[in-house]
Amino acid sequence: MTGAWSLPSVPVMRPVLPTLAEVTDRLRAIDAAGWYTNFGPQETELRERFAAFLGVCEDRVATASSATLALQGAATVSHAVSWRVPSFTFPATPSALLQAGHRIRFSDIRADDWWLDGDGSGTDDATEGLVPVAPFGAPIDLTFWDPTREVIIDAAASLGADVPALDALPPTWAVVFSLHATKCLPAGEGGLVVFGDAARAERFRAWTNHGFSDVRESRFLSTNAKLSELAAAYGHATLDAWERIRDEWRAAREGVERLEQEHGLASQPGRRAGVSPYWIVEFPDAAVATAVEQVMADGGIGTRRWWSSGCHRMPAFRDIDRDVLPVTESVAARSLGLPMFRGLDRSHLARISHALAQAHALQAG
Ligand SMILES: Cc1ncc(COP(=O)(O)O)c(C=O)c1O
Repeated sequence: MTGAWSLPSVPVMRPVLPTLAEVTDRLRAIDAAGWYTNFGPQETELRERFAAFLGVCEDRVATASSATLALQGAATVSHAVSWRVPSFTFPATPSALLQAGHRIRFSDIRADDWWLDGDGSGTDDATEGLVPVAPFGAPIDLTFWDPTREVIIDAAASLGADVPALDALPPTWAVVFSLHATKCLPAGEGGLVVFGDAARAERFRAWTNHGFSDVRESRFLSTNAKLSELAAAYGHATLDAWERIRDEWRAAREGVERLEQEHGLASQPGRRAGVSPYWIVEFPDAAVATAVEQVMADGGIGTRRWWSSGCHRMPAFRDIDRDVLPVTESVAARSLGLPMFRGLDRSHLARISHALAQAHALQAG
């Protein structure tokens, strides 16, 4: 029995960071150096390690205190002033662009894989950039979007996915990842950007540090979005254990795939190489999704509508221009985030399976 005050006994997600033992050596190094932020040795080395991890030269990689601020900075150093953004995303995507002082327009997503619809070619407005969002940790597609456009790929949850070598990124593109505690490769809080152009990466780094570069003077409107040495230390400890961590995510994914087969479910990011921190089930209609949500809640199993009904329905974005959004409306109503975390085990899966069968029986009856 769960009361209104109690947490579900199968959570929808469970953030896991390296243990104190795993991060202690790095914390001691910070202590000894007395260098806690401002591009210290931990941040510098982490940037180098991520550059190697992503197959790109380190002068095109930059860190930030969050992916939200990384998106804002990537927009600030771009040449675009307006952007096409999917409504079906986390509100960080549109807010970051608006905070950069840019205009946005909400567009629909593709029905099959939930990426931003349209490749950007054939538009007259060359100043309009695209922000394709990799849905729920999907692998990144570098081939679809127009390489001559300004493009920021919001790949917040895709650090565990199969990422193509990013050294092929067009010069007007950037890819943003999150190191948030709920993601596959977490540092607690943090963001990472890969640019197609080293000069933009350099300007972005200045933007994260009050617009300072060689002189202590704000060269342009900027902020403090630096990754701290403490967060970088956690990022290192996660990378040190990456193979084990990836195997744990993979084991959780294999478990839910068995359930999907058993119950005939389709999901995002689906059966793809790599790992994702989400399990988003796409039900045939909104009534089934709502029934599953209710049965899971009654059974103490956490679910979440991660991206709600789409950003266009949120008060903060009420006045934003938008295209017609039939796929967004449909996908938002029919999809539901089910539990996905490292350590999702047989007993959790048995309870989820039981609840899915119960919801099915209710619908059939
Ligand atoms: C699509 C998307 N973009 C941006 C963010 C923001 O990332 P952060 O929490 O690192 O700011 C998230 C967070 O989950 C996200 O899902």
